[in-house]
Amino acid sequence: MRVLVTGGSGRLGRSVVATLAARGHHVTSVDTAPPHSADTDGIVADLLDDTAREEVFTRTRPEAVVHLAGIAVPFARPDLETLSVNTRLAWAVLSAAAAHGAHSATAASSPTVYGYNTPSWKPRYLPLDEDHPVAPWNAYGLSKAIIEDTARAVARTTDTCTISCVRPGYVVAPEEWQGAPTQLGHTMAERVADPALAATSLFNYVDARDAAELFALVVENPGTVPTGQVLNAMAPDPLAPGPVDTLLPEHHPTTGESAHTLADGRAVFSSERARTLLGWEPARTWRTQLPPEQHPSAERH
Ligand SMILES: NC(=O)c1ccc[n+]([C@@H]2O[C@H](COP(=O)([O-])OP(=O)(O)OC[C@H]3O[C@@H](n4cnc5c(N)ncnc54)[C@H](O)[C@@H]3O)[C@@H](O)[C@H]2O)c1
Repeated sequence: MRVLVTGGSGRLGRSVVATLAARGHHVTSVDTAPPHSADTDGIVADLLDDTAREEVFTRTRPEAVVHLAGIAVPFARPDLETLSVNTRLAWAVLSAAAAHGAHSATAASSPTVYGYNTPSWKPRYLPLDEDHPVAPWNAYGLSKAIIEDTARAVARTTDTCTISCVRPGYVVAPEEWQGAPTQLGHTMAERVADPALAATSLFNYVDARDAAELFALVVENPGTVPTGQVLNAMAPDPLAPGPVDTLLPEHHPTTGESAHTLADGRAVFSSERARTLLGWEPARTWRTQLPPEQHPSAERH
């Protein structure tokens, strides 16, 4: 299949491009940054430029679009820039996908739409699934909630293009397990060892290659994911050396009433929908990917 990946030079995009190519698809990456690998068909273009974007879609005629381009970290840029760039990109890319005859388009959302990290945030239940209400409070989370609405809005204009969103957890690129700094500057060993770091994302994470496999499954099964649908994409366990039923309320006191459901070691987020619809089984956990000598010495229970 001809697949266009926006943001294909990024932390997640590199794995998405490699995974789709390995599965036999003809992949083109479009990004303002050059392609990561010389083997990748890459176009350097700003997708917010109307002329450039039109040229990209006319030239590549994608049958599927994976939209990852954007500002990927909360507070990395001024709020108005984050809100403007992410929401305009989603409208532009998803509309172009439908207009140019793609059968499917899927965009990266984020678990930040749930709105944790405010003193008043209280989950109705845990683990958090896609039916749980969202309550974004910062520009990045709001941009992702708008992207999910944008997907549903554009989906209403087409009966030939299925449009969905995926919410990857804290994305860990392969080299980051070996010690390369993650998007927030610390290493994965530090993030596992210090609960205060992982608690800011409610201990969620996902290996970039596992997330890439979910994007590939969405591309390959356009009729299986109902249009407008959102899929969580997190590792099955929390990023912590043990269950988080007591650890989570230590950092987010309002979770105290519902955290007992996590006593069996499950993650704070449920990705059951992706498993049920597409058979997605994230295979890489921090226990299998982090070098053994970097595991916390005592397992906490
Ligand atoms: N990294 C995570 O933990 C995480 C978690 C959840 C969701 N996401 C989402 O997944 C997507 C990819 O994240 P990432 O970590 O790979 O980010 P990244 O910053 O590594 O990659 C994003 C890419 O988008 C490109 N880009 C930005 N604006 C563009 C434009 N106008 N035109 C063309 N290209 C443009 C950038 O050059 C960059 O290569 C983002 O939408 C992000 O919000 C990431």
